[in-house]
Amino acid sequence: MLEGGVPYYQVSYSREDIIKPSKLGFTFKDAEPLNQNLIIADEKHSSFDETWTQPWGEVKEIRNHYNELRVNLEETTEAHRKMTVVFRVYDDGLGFRYELPEQNNLSDFEIMDEETEFVLTGNHQAWWIPAYREHRYEYLYRQSPISFFRTKGFRAVHTPLTMETADGLFLSIHEANLTDYASMTLAGSDNNTLLCDLVPWSDGVKVRASTPHQTPWRTIQIAENAGDLITSYLILNLNEPNKLEDVSWIRPGKYVGIWWGMHIGKYTWGSGAKHGATTENAKRYIDFAAKYGFSGVLVEGWNVGWDGDWAKNGDQFSFTTPYEDFDIEEVSAYAAAKGVKLTGHHETGAAVANYERQLEDAFAYYRNLGIDTVKTGYVGWDPGIKRRDEEGNVIGLEWHHGQYMVRHYGKVVETAARYHIMLDVHEPIKDTGIRRTYPNMMTREGARGQEYDAWSEDGGNPPEHTTILPFTRMLAGPFDLTPGIFDLFFEEYRPNNRVNTTLAKQLALYVVIYSPLHMAADLPENYEGHPAFQFIVDVPVDWQDTKVLHAKIGDYVTIARQDRNSEDWYIGSITDEDGRTLEAPLSFLEPGKKYVAEVYADAADADWESNPLAIDIYEALVDRGTTLRLRLAPGGGQAIRIRPATEDEANRIPRYQP
Ligand code: NOJ
Repeated sequence: MLEGGVPYYQVSYSREDIIKPSKLGFTFKDAEPLNQNLIIADEKHSSFDETWTQPWGEVKEIRNHYNELRVNLEETTEAHRKMTVVFRVYDDGLGFRYELPEQNNLSDFEIMDEETEFVLTGNHQAWWIPAYREHRYEYLYRQSPISFFRTKGFRAVHTPLTMETADGLFLSIHEANLTDYASMTLAGSDNNTLLCDLVPWSDGVKVRASTPHQTPWRTIQIAENAGDLITSYLILNLNEPNKLEDVSWIRPGKYVGIWWGMHIGKYTWGSGAKHGATTENAKRYIDFAAKYGFSGVLVEGWNVGWDGDWAKNGDQFSFTTPYEDFDIEEVSAYAAAKGVKLTGHHETGAAVANYERQLEDAFAYYRNLGIDTVKTGYVGWDPGIKRRDEEGNVIGLEWHHGQYMVRHYGKVVETAARYHIMLDVHEPIKDTGIRRTYPNMMTREGARGQEYDAWSEDGGNPPEHTTILPFTRMLAGPFDLTPGIFDLFFEEYRPNNRVNTTLAKQLALYVVIYSPLHMAADLPENYEGHPAFQFIVDVPVDWQDTKVLHAKIGDYVTIARQDRNSEDWYIGSITDEDGRTLEAPLSFLEPGKKYVAEVYADAADADWESNPLAIDIYEALVDRGTTLRLRLAPGGGQAIRIRPATEDEANRIPRYQP
């Protein structure tokens, strides 16, 4: 709607206001703002309904069903500039974006502000991490009313921003299809209002573009139950369909790697006596992966550039020169002979120009070695990414999340796709559903992963961390958390650090935290002979269906997922620092069928602080009439595989006793 020529939108859900009239528009550098003196030239309504298949994912089929409204706005001033706002309204929320069509009086432009507002109906509770901080997205989530952002001096917060209203509705504001634009953060303002705050270039400009141009979608997901946010696929629906014709080379999988050893200090990335990436060590990991059916072996620290302060000297990295004690050809041939693939690693130290210069060679090099998955990394403190001119002079220090880096991350995804390489991006740009268009963009970090438990001086991730992530960070997309640590205390290496969970919770995280590439992160020697390891061997990473059985943000969450390639179901349930018992009816199982539940539960006396390793592993017969009683220790969890029972098992295995 327009009021005095100024455009506004508003949102209601079941007749309840969600967003009160909120402004739309832009200000530009060296041009009049496009936020007033407008009329509606015309409007178009349409609807759309299709069901599409994910090549891999948390569900197989996704329904994309919306009503669309396109509002064509035109200035009444002499310039007669035009702007379209497109709304797509779904059962689970909406998205809207601006289109700036090609026109005489708007060609090349620089956005100084996108003035999109979100005027909320109250001072909602929110779960958030601050924006404009040196450690990018790697902060613990806080819970507070939205007014706190401003009163406590936080310039803005990242999206997805999840909120609960006083009436018990759940909202999440995020964006979809961020490809050539700055990321949206949200700044607090008066009157329960959040303002779009685009991450600027180093010179203060927010976005450089030319018409025709479309912004990313601004999304608002709305749910009556926090769990329904997890099973909303609105962000994916607002991305373009798969652009890669052949996706047969894209395969989800589990991996192990020369990795945790560096984080706890057993190995080093750099050369020397403790170098982790040696030919011999890599072969040992390959043997382990082959024995237990892991498809990938990550090797970090394999290439020249790690010696010295690599995070500050990313320009030293060569992506085609292995260290002398790592014979990459021999190791990849050894892996191939065992039916395993290396997972490549490109740590850039956020030296983006150095990486871009080597990009084609770097991917061609891996491709020639038969490597089809690469983990990338951009360690660096914001805003410190050196943007350089053609001669190599530094011309700006950029944020990880401004348009400069959005373009870079996009370029890497497209380059990798050309070489048929899947990506796992650390220190990434947040996910906005790009994996629909580029299904080789598998997983990413973009939150505090489990590595913080290895070395963080603040005590690592507290037990509640993973009970918040499914409702916040995970709404954006898959997360490479790197779960599966069995040796929760590694006193020999880091006496002051530990993993803040029970062992059973480590297993449950494989189901709760969705990632098409999941790591079994611990040292192989900590898995050999451990009965709980069977769960990690069994758990799939590609799902037919996902159901949220319990959902309380920051307290507990239970997720059931059906394997895409079998009739098995897997359940993961986790809690914060409080122990609790949750009831989970298995009504999603097929009628008339008996199943074996393979249960990995916290033992009766387990406790993340004092007794985290105590685990009960047992089998029991279940069917769709069974209600599981999930006993979760403080800081604990439970993981269950449910598979069809053979006739013999149906007669032999005892029924589940709650
Ligand atoms: C940070 C990443 O999150 C981690 O997984 C990696 O091992 C280091 N950077 C080194 O690249």
